[in-house]
Amino acid sequence: MSIVFGDDFKELVRANTNLVDLVSESIALTPSNANDYVGLCPFHDDKRPSFHVYSDRQSYRCWVCDKGGDCFGWVMDLNMVTFPEALKMLAERANLEMPQRHRSEFNRTAGDSKVTQYEIVEWACNLMQSSFRGEVGELARKYATERNLTAETLKTFRVGFHPEEWRWLLNKARGKYTDEQLVSVGLAKEMKSGRGLRDELIGRLVFPIINERGQAVAFGGRVLPGGNDDKGPKYWNSPETDIFLKRKTLYGFHQARETIRKESCRTAIVVEGYMDVVACHQAGVTNAVATLGTALTEDHVRFLKRFADRVVLLYDGDTAGIQAAERSIERFLSFDIDLRIMTLAEGQDPADYFEQHSKDEFEELVKAAPEAWEYKLQSVSSRYGNATIGGRQKIAGELIKFLVASTGLKGTIKEDLILRNLSQRLSVEELALRQQLSQARQEESGRQRRFVRPNEQEIPPQPVRKSMKACDLAERELLEIILSEPETVNFARYRIGPDDFEDGRYRRLYELCVDLIAEEGLLPEPQRVIAAAESSSELLSLVNALLDSAREKGISELMNEDPLEHQGDSQRLDAEIPAHLQRVLNPLILRRDRNQIVVSKQKMAQAQNASGELLSDTLETLRRITKLKRNEMGNQ
Ligand code: UTP
Ligand code: MN
Repeated sequence: MSIVFGDDFKELVRANTNLVDLVSESIALTPSNANDYVGLCPFHDDKRPSFHVYSDRQSYRCWVCDKGGDCFGWVMDLNMVTFPEALKMLAERANLEMPQRHRSEFNRTAGDSKVTQYEIVEWACNLMQSSFRGEVGELARKYATERNLTAETLKTFRVGFHPEEWRWLLNKARGKYTDEQLVSVGLAKEMKSGRGLRDELIGRLVFPIINERGQAVAFGGRVLPGGNDDKGPKYWNSPETDIFLKRKTLYGFHQARETIRKESCRTAIVVEGYMDVVACHQAGVTNAVATLGTALTEDHVRFLKRFADRVVLLYDGDTAGIQAAERSIERFLSFDIDLRIMTLAEGQDPADYFEQHSKDEFEELVKAAPEAWEYKLQSVSSRYGNATIGGRQKIAGELIKFLVASTGLKGTIKEDLILRNLSQRLSVEELALRQQLSQARQEESGRQRRFVRPNEQEIPPQPVRKSMKACDLAERELLEIILSEPETVNFARYRIGPDDFEDGRYRRLYELCVDLIAEEGLLPEPQRVIAAAESSSELLSLVNALLDSAREKGISELMNEDPLEHQGDSQRLDAEIPAHLQRVLNPLILRRDRNQIVVSKQKMAQAQNASGELLSDTLETLRRITKLKRNEMGNQ
């Protein structure tokens, strides 16, 4: 295969890495069939081997937790490192020397440019701290005082201020760092309409984001009330860069680490925002950290598990906070960690709380915080009331649903304990609960078996949404077809564009396949798609999932059916299209045309005198829909 994507060196490293060998260095693999090796998944608490390494595709995927990727993804996920670090490690392992030329060429991802990136962020961090203390920082200091932040807190969290000057950092960097370098760490960006570059963070109170090694890697900036720029969002956050990954970073961790890991503590409190962390620490609660505008991820939890036995999620007492809490419980229930949920009184966040309460009162709340499933039980109970039998049945039903959704819980001690406890609390026979649970699981897996490869030993891997519409299925199946029979992309791409996809993941994958053929003239064969996915673990794991289910459904055989017969005026475009592909494309084309009609109707309603052209567009679309429907019915 010729090498055409991204970076030659990356492909060279890939070509010199055997994924099966690489993975075997860390976990035990056994051959399952020809190109398939299995082992215990290192990314979740695996009970039975659900981690597959495919030697032909040189990629891996866990059928339970759905982690997946190529050799780079493996090193990144296993060692929690960024792409350049993974590239370097694999290059060393393959005895390949990183070419100097490449380092400057890929600039944003080169091994040694990271040194500069840390340096630039540190430089900017210092400048903004000084301007906070200087004359320009008056408004920022006033705001910090209003929020009761002490000098010590400001120092610990390195709080800074970006003056209200559009090119302040860009100018200061002159002769030191290039504009591109400032852009690469997210501190400057291109203005719209080509008016050149400008700084980010202008006029904002700045919270540097420090990684677990104590290096500043990114920033969050809060608008200052009364400042000129208080129209934007309340917080601006650095984009992800080579040195900053949101799903792996916790704000305040560097300052909280010592307390968290102390034998007497071993507890991490996860709050919602910058100010919450700062307020907690100032009040003496120095084991608080925050996610950065994302929900708590598995990476976060795995990371915290290294230091803490218990994670307490403290969400704001508003509806959004409560919903976020419930989502996290479901995701992490089966994890081997003591997860607690804590909420404050309606509308209060930690900063508000500490205006009236002490550290000791807070610690009492932490101690009393219920376990995650208990929290769920309490919130469902308060909805239905457990005084009546009917109420208790509803509660049991909800809890069963919740246990089913938590993949990985099946057969664990935790599950036993929860069921026993539920049976006592709801006065329902434990056996009855167990039967209900296993029946619900069967129903769920029956639902899923229709869409994904069944797995007799484990809970089905993909948490497929409950009601998949015809079009969702078609989007997925179209991709299954293209990946198993790459030449079919030539039928698909003239009929359906990436924009006609609604599911973002499928859209990105389809776009990648179409780009390959349109821009490089190459068929989207799985190997190529995997290379072009640039180690995006989401895309890679999707490719693998699709190939698995395509094989299970026997897509290739389906594609060998005879082409559809054409009634009436056959369009040349439809000449040789495989019948199955046409069936899959139909609902997508239909939906696209329907959407077009809606747009046309809106346009017509807007323009008093609709032009003849618009009208004929609409009529043409209508005609096609009628024809499609006829075809569909004729082929059932
Ligand atoms: P909050 O609005 O609760 O912020 O958002 P906060 O930290 O308590 O700040 P104060 O008390 O209003 O000063 C919680 C977190 O959500 C993200 C930030 O990470 C914030 O800390 N957020 C919020 C944004 O990224 N952008 C926004 O516009 C708002
Ligand atoms: Mn707040």
